[in-house]
Amino acid sequence: MIAFHISPVLKVGVRAGPSYVLALMAISVMGIVTGLHSGCLPPPVDSGRDTPPASDADRSIAQNSVKMLAEGRETFRFDTFGSESFWGDALKLHQALAGSANGGVGPGVTPNQALQLGLKVDSDMLIPAVIESLQSGTLNLDDPLTTLDLLRADAVVGVKGFFDQNRTITSIGIQCALCHSTVDDAVLPGIGRRLDGWGNRDLNVGAIIAIAPDLSALANVLQVTQDTVRAVVNAWGPGKFDAELTLDGKGFRPDNRTAATLIPPAFGLAGVNLHTWTGWGSVTHWNAFVSNLEMHGHGTFFDPRLNDPVRFPVAVRAGLHDVRSNPDLITPKLAALHFYQLAIAAPAPADGTFVREAARRGESLFAGKAGCARCHVPPLFTEPGWNMHTPDEIGIDSFQADRSPDGRYRTSPLKGLWTHQKGGFYHDGRFPTLRAVIDHYDGHFDLSLSEAEKDDLVQYLLSL
Ligand code: HEC
Ligand code: HEC
Repeated sequence: MIAFHISPVLKVGVRAGPSYVLALMAISVMGIVTGLHSGCLPPPVDSGRDTPPASDADRSIAQNSVKMLAEGRETFRFDTFGSESFWGDALKLHQALAGSANGGVGPGVTPNQALQLGLKVDSDMLIPAVIESLQSGTLNLDDPLTTLDLLRADAVVGVKGFFDQNRTITSIGIQCALCHSTVDDAVLPGIGRRLDGWGNRDLNVGAIIAIAPDLSALANVLQVTQDTVRAVVNAWGPGKFDAELTLDGKGFRPDNRTAATLIPPAFGLAGVNLHTWTGWGSVTHWNAFVSNLEMHGHGTFFDPRLNDPVRFPVAVRAGLHDVRSNPDLITPKLAALHFYQLAIAAPAPADGTFVREAARRGESLFAGKAGCARCHVPPLFTEPGWNMHTPDEIGIDSFQADRSPDGRYRTSPLKGLWTHQKGGFYHDGRFPTLRAVIDHYDGHFDLSLSEAEKDDLVQYLLSL
């Protein structure tokens, strides 16, 4: 699949579409299957057994895993699920990005402003000449036209621009990668190669929504004014989003702080039973939920728990417990999307980013005196089984738990914690540092941890 070069400034690289990726990956699996183990599948890690030759059934499973991975990655990175009908056609967000000089409205959004909003640029989509001009500072990052060029090159992570033949932007849709990928900053801060699964804690989703010219779609469903919608989303801040707003209409907590929650990572989730901060369901439940109800894609979603006028009045008004679309742009993609997400392991911290000796002592505390491993069971770091706890058990208020069907908080899987220290910890970032989390547990569970022990625990958490 080749994306054509339209812009004189930025060229779209050859995008490795499904068939290309598939072919490459199939070759690499065949390499393992036929080359390394002479006709055998790779043996299980600890197996002392002789591996028998691969059967047709074994081979077909291995080939399916390659296909699922490639398709799922394509969906995670590039599928909008038809969400352009909401972000473009209804909210007209593309017009605000373009600005009046380019067929839109207002001043437009420059690349520098987009980077300030936490949007990321995928350098694999840019030709070397553009990367050089970025590094030498000669590419104009203060012109909304360059933003449009980047969108045309499919280089803005998680955002897809649609253009007509006159190169005018006509709509815009969003992808999973918007919130759950970032980049490695290899070219410049905010510009580099993709890191799938990392929560984008720089992304100011609320500020992006707030610049949309027409928020009537949200205002109508929430039964408030557009100004109120703007005030609610402007209060979210970087790294946060409120997936429950369009279910219960609650924009703020009782203490008047935003009701939004942090964007969690979407890696290290294999083996974890329930997902999201409040354990709404499995990974695939949430994938269907978010693509239909939050991204405003067009698919099928069924969850009768939402048909609860007391807890979810907005969802009931909008009929969100039983969504059907024709054509269904989501359901056929859910299996591979699930598979891809489970394949994303939590990234290991680099050497030297934590103190190894202290981490080793912290590990003993985690399993022993501090009692953490009772809930954060290694190596999943959540409970195998029903990984949910009442607000009282962990010593916090019930506001966010009450916005979900189970009324509980899910034990966060802790691997890769080092990647998401920005924005704080716990669902709403209430603890600014890991040390603050440990202080909370020290008080709540009466642990009598010494200062040195707390430091060791922090080092252990940073090593996961
Ligand atoms: C606008 C930002 C945004 C987009 C787009 C988005 N998510 Fe999320 N995602 C979130 C937030 C916020 C949460 C936490 C929700 C909660 O607890 O209420 C979350 C939670 C999750 C979780 C649970 C993680 C865990 O720790 O259990 C998964 C899995 C996930 N999202 C996958 C996806 C997939 C797949 C897509 C695309 C179909 C997607 N998300 C699109 C913001 C987003
Ligand atoms: C009773 C079960 C339980 C015990 C014991 C427990 N935790 Fe937790 N932990 C949770 C739950 C539930 C959450 C999610 C809270 C939230 O998001 O509001 C959590 C969240 C966390 C987080 C934040 C993760 C994130 O992504 O923001 C850290 C860090 C953490 N726990 C570390 C520890 C440490 C260290 C200990 C031992 C001192 C410990 N926990 C003991 C249940 C537990």
